[in-house]
Amino acid sequence: MRKQMRILRRRSTEQEPYWQTFLFETADEEATVATALRELNERETLLDVAGNVAEAIRWENSCLQKKCGACAMVINGMPKLACATRLAELKREVVSLEPLRKFPVVADLLVDRGVLMQNLKDAQAWLEHDAVLEDRRWSMAYEASRCLQCGLCLEACPNFCAEGPFGGMAAMVPMARLLSQAPGEQRAQLATSYRDVVFGGCGKSLACRAVCPAGIDIDGLLARSNAAALWHRW
Ligand code: SF4
Ligand code: FES
Repeated sequence: MRKQMRILRRRSTEQEPYWQTFLFETADEEATVATALRELNERETLLDVAGNVAEAIRWENSCLQKKCGACAMVINGMPKLACATRLAELKREVVSLEPLRKFPVVADLLVDRGVLMQNLKDAQAWLEHDAVLEDRRWSMAYEASRCLQCGLCLEACPNFCAEGPFGGMAAMVPMARLLSQAPGEQRAQLATSYRDVVFGGCGKSLACRAVCPAGIDIDGLLARSNAAALWHRW
C-alpha cells in the first residue's frame, strides 16, 4: 500500500501554515495513520516528496489503542483518531492531515486542548463528598465514564468555539456522570452549572454522535442529564 501523507504544518503558533507531503509505503493492511506518522518520524532523515529535508512531525499520541484520545486530528476532512483510522479504509492515495480547528495550534498536528479541562473547572464539575451510587444510575455513570476527552465532538459541533461559554459534549458527558452520582445539595449546584455550560448552548444538531470514537450514547446521556438538571427528575 502506498500513500501520500499530506500534512498541514507550522512550526509555531505564529507561523503561517503550509502543506508538506511525504511518501509512506507498507505491506501491513492494518497500518493506521498513527503507524505512518510514527514511521515517518523514525526515519534517520525525513525527506518530503520533493526531496527536501523536513523536521519531525509534531503530534500527540500515547496509548495507540483508541483509549486516551490524544491522537485526535482531522483526517481527509473528518475528525478522527489517528490510531483508529486504518490507511486501507481511506480510498484515496493522498491522505490529508490537519490539526483540530477548534483549538489553538501549538505546532503541526499538535493542539492545546486545555479548554476542555478549563470548562470543567469553571463549572466546578467535581464531587465535594462521596458519590451516591444507586443501581438504577450505574448504566449512565458507566456510559459517561467511557469519554476520552479527545475533543472530536467539539470539532464537529456547529455551536462550540473555544472562547465561548458552551462546553459541548466533552463537558456534558462528565457532568452527566456527576449528576448521576452527586449528593442532593451538590446536585443543585451542578444543575445550575450544567444549564449554563451545556443546556444553554446545545442546538441538538447531534453532529457529535456521528464522530465520537467511543461510540458513547450521547443522545441518551443528553436527554437524561437535561432532565436531571432542568426538571430534577430521576
Ligand atoms: S464525547 Fe466522544 S468525541 Fe466527545 S470528548 Fe468524549 S469520547 Fe471524545
Ligand atoms: S493514541 Fe490514544 S487514542 Fe490514539
